[in-house]
Amino acid sequence: MKRFNTSLIAAISAAAFCVSPICAQETAAPAAQEEKTKTEKKERRIRASPGTPKIDGEIDDIWKTARKSKTDRYVESESMVQASEAATAEFRCLWDEKHVYILAVVKDAVLGVDADEDWQQDSVEFFIDENMARSTTYDGDDGQYRVNCEGNITFGQVAKEAIQASVKKTKTGYVVEAAIELNSITAKKGNKIGFDLQVNDDTDDSGNRGAIMKWSDDTNESYQDTSRFGTLVFAEARKPKAKKEAKTEDK
Ligand code: BGC
Ligand code: CA
Ligand code: CA
Repeated sequence: MKRFNTSLIAAISAAAFCVSPICAQETAAPAAQEEKTKTEKKERRIRASPGTPKIDGEIDDIWKTARKSKTDRYVESESMVQASEAATAEFRCLWDEKHVYILAVVKDAVLGVDADEDWQQDSVEFFIDENMARSTTYDGDDGQYRVNCEGNITFGQVAKEAIQASVKKTKTGYVVEAAIELNSITAKKGNKIGFDLQVNDDTDDSGNRGAIMKWSDDTNESYQDTSRFGTLVFAEARKPKAKKEAKTEDK
């Protein structure tokens, strides 16, 4: 409640302040920034760490060895609310010879699975392109896997319905821990696959998807086109950051 009051006051004072032309200029900056990120479309890459987690929705220590990334690309064409109001996920990836594991920590203020279509429900989707052919249609090695905030699993095109997932709700959304079985390759250190992650958000629990956020492809084509997926590398474990040396000059 306290937080709500504070932000309300901040919003009112910001609105009052923004009547000035200086403020109008200042508020144009984030829009320009948004335009930049949209056109840049830098290729996404995540280095997965080796490891086999237990799929139970608990964030075990093994996940700390994996690097973090997030779904900060907004699929504007499919969204009815602004990016700032859309559900997002922070995620990490692990691998072993036969699987890719994903831990997605989703921030979603209102959870709902009322929509008839699975992809309109609050859910996370994983996209895999095992041979990294980046084809514009799905080949036999490509797959689309979906887990909703209640733990219900659905699929798009997949060679094999080979996913295990566990979901836990949190105060700020939900956590999805998933294991996807590789069907045509054996993972080896240094090899790569195509990968993407999508968060579907029924923003007001109305039964309609209000927003999509993605990791790599900022279009809604990932379910039928693998060409804009990012890259997942079967890498070594993350090295713990070296402790900063004590600053001697400040003594
Ligand atoms: C897309 C939907 C599509 C569905 C098919 C989702 O990722 O956002 O538009 O109909 O996949 O499975
Ligand atoms: Ca492929
Ligand atoms: Ca939601």
